[in-house]
Amino acid sequence: MIAKFRNWIDERYPATKTWEEHVSKYYAPKNFNFWYFFGSLALLVLVLQIVTGIFLTMHYKPDTELAFDSVEHIMRDVSWGWLMRYLHSTGASLFFVVIYLHMFRGLLYGSHRKPRELLWIVGMVIYLTLMAEAFFGYLLPWGNMSYWGAQVIISLFAAIPYIGEGLAEWIRGDFVVSDATLTRFFAFHVILVPLVLLGLVFVHLVALHKVGSNNPDGIEIKADKKEDGTPKDGIPFHPYYTVKDLFGAGVFLFILFGITFITPELSGWFLERANFEPANALQTPPDIIPLWYLTPYYSILRAVTYPLFGVDAKLWGVFSMGFAIFLFFLLPWLDRSPVKSIRYRGWMFKTALTVFTVSFVLLGYLGTKNPQAIDLFLFTNLTWAQIFYFLYFAFFLLMPIYTRLDPVKPVPDRVTFK
Ligand code: HEM
Repeated sequence: MIAKFRNWIDERYPATKTWEEHVSKYYAPKNFNFWYFFGSLALLVLVLQIVTGIFLTMHYKPDTELAFDSVEHIMRDVSWGWLMRYLHSTGASLFFVVIYLHMFRGLLYGSHRKPRELLWIVGMVIYLTLMAEAFFGYLLPWGNMSYWGAQVIISLFAAIPYIGEGLAEWIRGDFVVSDATLTRFFAFHVILVPLVLLGLVFVHLVALHKVGSNNPDGIEIKADKKEDGTPKDGIPFHPYYTVKDLFGAGVFLFILFGITFITPELSGWFLERANFEPANALQTPPDIIPLWYLTPYYSILRAVTYPLFGVDAKLWGVFSMGFAIFLFFLLPWLDRSPVKSIRYRGWMFKTALTVFTVSFVLLGYLGTKNPQAIDLFLFTNLTWAQIFYFLYFAFFLLMPIYTRLDPVKPVPDRVTFK
């Protein structure tokens, strides 16, 4: 009966064909490691955010008079409301943890290189969209940091010559962040951006299956096939990697629930203190700081303090921030190394990647601090941010040079697997 039912479906819809092509007979490299958990985890968090978000939307009120209280109502009165809200806020931060590790894997193994340039670019568009999604969502609880964060970020657009002021006003729908801003951000956060994200993730996976996965050795397994046409170094995605990914999901959920149940604010890193107070247009928080996943760019923005070539510092800051993200898009072409994986690269790339990673993390840390204070050693946070600003850009801009000069090791024909 089951076979009959399957045939009935298959005659009308390519269910078995799709399952085989993309899961049970999709051959992935047999040497995936820890770093290959994060794609499936990103999918898991996306679903988690949508499901918890739907429940939040049932009780949230997108109105400046009601928004803050409706979130408190969710936290205190709605059955399991606190769980939905904390899973959603913790999920948002962990989404970025997962995405940053997913992107870092790309840098480690050269997954941005030919033939995966488009896959990487779609990934970057997802990353930008995700930042927008987080930014829109952050205004919704209408806390004091929601309000001032939106005020600061939207006013950045005003730095653009000629059209800036008008653009900022158009985004807000008002001269200041107001009810018009809140309702449109709600519309973007709950429907527009999630739809775009789902579409982009679909395109991301189609692009992935067109070219096939890279692996920790950076070897194209499709180049070496058995008589039956399957790659010698490939294994079917199901059951081998479905089982592996289930294990990853288990560990991830353990961490997610651990933070959610024990310390959902995570000392202000996942939920900022100022946001436990309602928005107040007359009282600026002592430091206006976005959540940690945006702070590397916030640091880059604040690092520019001098006008140059007649352009004021704020505009340079905004430009630097945009350029810092844009450079990731160019990575497939900036990287000129003959090898992909870090395993076979020389000391130059390894050093550059280490310096870049440290700079990115410290820029993020400095972005959460007062620029004039001294939190590392010797210099003010601003001076450190300026040093890491240069190291950040040097990683990308010098890449065509050091990846050419790098003394690389010979790449084996087959993947290494113990
Ligand atoms: C919602 C966000 C995202 C989801 C759901 C997602 C999903 C996935 C999945 C399931 C895979 C295959 C499994 C794996 O290789 O781990 C993958 C691979 C990949 N993703 Fe993403 N991804 C997302 C965001 C990104 C971003 C932001 C980038 C980079 C800018 C990116 C770049 C890549 C690349 C280059 C690969 C191929 C890696 C390889 O084969 O070595 N992805 N993605």
